[in-house]
Amino acid sequence: MLENLDVDYDGLIPNNVGLNQDARVRRALETWHPGYIDWWKDMGPEGFQDSLVYLRTAVGVDPEGWAKFGFVKMPDYKWGILLAPKVEGRTIPFGHHKGEPAWQDVPGEYRAMLRRLLVIQGDTEPASVEQQRHLGATAPSLYDMRNLFQVNVEEGRHLWAMVYLLQKYFGKDGREEAEELLRRRSGHQDTPRMLGAFNEATPDWLSFFMFTHFTDRDGKMQLAALAQSGFDPLSRTCRFMLTEEAHHMFVGESGVGRIIERTCQAMREAGIGDPTDSERVRALGVIDLPTVQKKINLHFSLTLDLFGNEISTNAANAFNAGLKGRYREDKLTDDHQLLTATYPVLRLRDGVIVREDVPALSALNMRLRDDYVDDCEGGITRWNKLIERNDCAFRLALPHVAFNRRIGEFTSVETDPEGRLLDAASWQARRDAFLPSADDNAYLGSLMRPVHAAGDFAPWIAPPKAGIDNKPGDYEYVKIEA
Ligand SMILES: [Fe+2]
Ligand SMILES: [Fe+2]
Repeated sequence: MLENLDVDYDGLIPNNVGLNQDARVRRALETWHPGYIDWWKDMGPEGFQDSLVYLRTAVGVDPEGWAKFGFVKMPDYKWGILLAPKVEGRTIPFGHHKGEPAWQDVPGEYRAMLRRLLVIQGDTEPASVEQQRHLGATAPSLYDMRNLFQVNVEEGRHLWAMVYLLQKYFGKDGREEAEELLRRRSGHQDTPRMLGAFNEATPDWLSFFMFTHFTDRDGKMQLAALAQSGFDPLSRTCRFMLTEEAHHMFVGESGVGRIIERTCQAMREAGIGDPTDSERVRALGVIDLPTVQKKINLHFSLTLDLFGNEISTNAANAFNAGLKGRYREDKLTDDHQLLTATYPVLRLRDGVIVREDVPALSALNMRLRDDYVDDCEGGITRWNKLIERNDCAFRLALPHVAFNRRIGEFTSVETDPEGRLLDAASWQARRDAFLPSADDNAYLGSLMRPVHAAGDFAPWIAPPKAGIDNKPGDYEYVKIEA
């Protein structure tokens, strides 16, 4: 058998799971592969399938394994199956089975629950590729285009990661689910992706950066909770996926940061002191900060819906079963079973938002969401520092968790971004002040012009501080005509 850190990179499917010794699973994956490539060509990045892209490929799961950069046509990318090293003697960290040896095989009694967790996670990965497929056509630079495609191929690899687990551990059911993952389509009327935010359009690059900042961060939280799983193969898969997810969030946070920087700079040069004077700011061809705030309001609220209902028996069951833990479960110091603990949850009671203590087991979605909100606050703080450094009198903020929600406690009400309840008429009247309006989207759309000269950037975004893989500023990250 291959050792954990050794990757067989020569075959069709690079892997460190010993596929060569596992004929059944290898055959299943090789059978699935052509359908995946068809899906990628149909639904992956549109228009650049023959271009050479400077991509990072994982060839190992140790830190040095990330060092391989090179030009590759996306359909030839080595997707592969990579698990983080096995921790000898690992035990189930939480739930009913806490302290028992971690499962190396699927525990029969939890088979259906585990399969569902894998399918839901797996479904988000190709969904985001589909959502982003038109963005190559309007990339503000070759640097950004390359980052988009890097995110896309890695989401493709995340699909492989879940499909491997389905095919290896779930037999015929798993093979059927793997096929279904290629069949659903983001935003499709009849066969949509499973979760709401993954059926939304990503029409422009500000949306893309917001998506990678906010929605990929949900991915990080979910993967972190699954990385604690008592089902060891899932834990190992997610631990490695988390190293890739970090880059996606970097793309989002730095992308929004570069937009903010460029806007502040243009305002300063033009002597505009009032950042809310959107008309004058837009006349400069940059994105006004109130529009950035509206996009935050939209993407943050859509992403909160991904955490599900605040009070959830499914989440309690998955925790009790030892399948899905809390964020950083291994760093927490309680009983890891939550037999008597409570947790505060925001609820709607007689038209008022109140905080209520509920059994902690039933509030695990809420807890993960709170950890997510804390993580998002960090990003807002860093963006605000950037605005402050540019002497601009504007501050960004996360909207209240009750704002613009379609799932959970606040579905039935509308609030302003501060969380004040609004009646239907006030919401209608003020909606366009809170969320991107048709005009805002049309303006953003008008800015989306491709920039293909190496080292050039669209006028609404600042260049990055450093290149990818320490490349110089004018590096040709994508050779469009290969
Ligand atoms: Fe992912
Ligand atoms: Fe991601």
